[in-house]
Amino acid sequence: MSVKILILYFSRTGNTEKMAKAVAEGAKEIEGVDVVLKSIREARPQDLLEADGIIIGSPTYYGTIAGPLKKFLDETVKYHGSLEGKVGGAFSSCGAMGGGAETTVLDIIKVMLIHGMIVQGNPEEHHFGVISIGSPDKEILEACKELGRRVARLAKQLKGEK
Ligand SMILES: Cc1cc2nc3c(=O)[nH]c(=O)nc-3n(C[C@H](O)[C@H](O)[C@H](O)COP(=O)(O)O)c2cc1C
Repeated sequence: MSVKILILYFSRTGNTEKMAKAVAEGAKEIEGVDVVLKSIREARPQDLLEADGIIIGSPTYYGTIAGPLKKFLDETVKYHGSLEGKVGGAFSSCGAMGGGAETTVLDIIKVMLIHGMIVQGNPEEHHFGVISIGSPDKEILEACKELGRRVARLAKQLKGEK
């Protein structure tokens, strides 16, 4: 039985999309893991049901989740209770230092916790989730890959696969 990781993102000018692609690359490195990368334009709320791990990325808009992604997340209420025990992770791109990317990531994580999902922090860096100011550089892309690897590894462990 394979482990499924869904990476879901919204991006208008491409920065969050670059991060999402790197998160997907990292998750793919874990053996036995199937990775699906979807923009919310092509995703449906029921896609979340099929995943063991869900990693969500948003640009920071006014210090929080961008409206189109928030709308999508609000639609997941019909699956309230069904996402319990899935592993979550978050990332955000913002325009400026102190622009609120961390609060965006925490807002995504709040949605996940309300769904009963499991979110692992990172003791090394990007503790809450990965953030980027503008277009992600090499170091941020590596942190995105690591986020993908960490979520995939934990989802695999929780599914009882070594
Ligand atoms: C409506 C709107 C609101 C924004 N609000 C913020 C903000 O509060 N803080 C910030 O640092 N950047 C803000 N930005 C800048 C974006 O977060 C930034 O350009 C981001 O990298 C865009 O991601 P994308 O390329 O994936 O669309 C805002 C941009 C828009 C369009």
